[in-house]
Amino acid sequence: MLENRPKFHFTTQRNWINDPNGLVYLDGQYHLFYQHNPLGNTPGNIGWGHALSTDLLHWTEQPMAIAFANGIMAFSGSVVVDKRNSSGFGTNTLIALFTAHHTTQALQTQYLAFSTDQGQTWTPYEGNPVLDLGQADFRDPKVFWHEPTQRWVMLVVLPNEHKVLFYGSSNLKNWDFLSDFGPVGAIDGIWEVPDMFMLRLEQQEHWVLKIDIGSGALHGGSGGQYFIGQFDGKRFIADSLETKWLDYGKDFYAALSFANLEGVSTANLEGVSTANLEGVSTANLEGRHVWLAWMNNWQYAQQTPTSPWRGAMSIPRELSLRRTADGFCLVQQPIPELKTLRTRNFSLENLQLKNETRALPIDGQQLEILLEFTLETAQEFGFRYGETTIGYDATTQEVFIERPQPDLEGFAGRHSIVVPLEFGNLQLQIFIDSCSVEVFVQDGLFVLTDLIFPESTGLELYALDGTVRFRTLVVWELA
Ligand code: FRU
Repeated sequence: MLENRPKFHFTTQRNWINDPNGLVYLDGQYHLFYQHNPLGNTPGNIGWGHALSTDLLHWTEQPMAIAFANGIMAFSGSVVVDKRNSSGFGTNTLIALFTAHHTTQALQTQYLAFSTDQGQTWTPYEGNPVLDLGQADFRDPKVFWHEPTQRWVMLVVLPNEHKVLFYGSSNLKNWDFLSDFGPVGAIDGIWEVPDMFMLRLEQQEHWVLKIDIGSGALHGGSGGQYFIGQFDGKRFIADSLETKWLDYGKDFYAALSFANLEGVSTANLEGVSTANLEGVSTANLEGRHVWLAWMNNWQYAQQTPTSPWRGAMSIPRELSLRRTADGFCLVQQPIPELKTLRTRNFSLENLQLKNETRALPIDGQQLEILLEFTLETAQEFGFRYGETTIGYDATTQEVFIERPQPDLEGFAGRHSIVVPLEFGNLQLQIFIDSCSVEVFVQDGLFVLTDLIFPESTGLELYALDGTVRFRTLVVWELA
């Protein structure tokens, strides 16, 4: 049996996790909170687990931050740093806004808790709830500071109505309704876990609004969509109401961006030669934009074959915008810190394959693979890792991941995205970590994230019905 616990993705030592919560950077540390059942391998007793990292790669699990107590589970939410003591709980206090899921009645309300000890212990606000609409489903507050209007903004969803509600506040305790957004885009399943942030492109501000859907996403089950538009501090207006998917695999849910990264750059990479970092953009004056997601799908999340832990986070991804023929696109790139993990490598250049399969003299369970191809006459070509294929189908112009097993409902299948090639050129950057594969296509223009549970780990290149040129292939083992 192969080890299926990932090594450079976050997992807990034991028990169930789902959504990342309260992602925040403070005093040199990245905080990851997450939905956690400390007592079992399936959802239940949900509160906020906690882990710390200085590089977004090596995490240390902390004691439970906000536990299930008094009939209230702590569902998803966010954390901000109260730099000006707007709440009165103290300058630079961490403030969590999260959903109180009441187990004694059908009710979800929004709660505030604060921490003055770096997120180790949390005190609930005595005036809780800070928002109560008397609704059974009303959740996942995401809060950020809106500089132009000098107030806090909260996004929170009415899942069944497919609405994001916007509220404003000067003190994080009293919230005034501002506007709503939806139903639009993908509405087959309930809406959950909204997020929103501003990215600049060519000196212009653009706001990205992300909304997850609990079922009926692109490949079935849960998934995330996003809209790009403008936000004036009150209302979000989308440039287009057409759904754009966040990820074209099946296992990227409840993505959440880090708060308080203003002024934080990616440059602080001890031991990594800067030559390696060419092409990594740290140019954003507002600081870096990073998010990560729960690498799973509600369709089969409770059945994945892992023990005593269940659930992993994706690798953190750096966010930016790119202009394409289809308008603006959210670009996700692996954080450059990942380069510090590179060890042994195997590489080749300019290899033409014709109707053949070529095994590579390297394997492993923690790998980064960089592939640059030029399509010639092949109908299909790509890369195989154990039972999984990551390929390009020239007839349909699709990049795909095909995972044939295990036999879990909704699991086996092919997940793809149409990528028309310019001059036949395709670039894939692939991260494999025991039970997952993340494929960044054309430098982060699209991503496919899939869980896999391989039975073997051999690597091979292949071309079907014609020729393809592997201009570059590098495989690194990751530490
Ligand atoms: C999304 C979600 C959230 C909720 C949390 C409960 O995966 O369903 O809407 O707050 O998980 O664990």
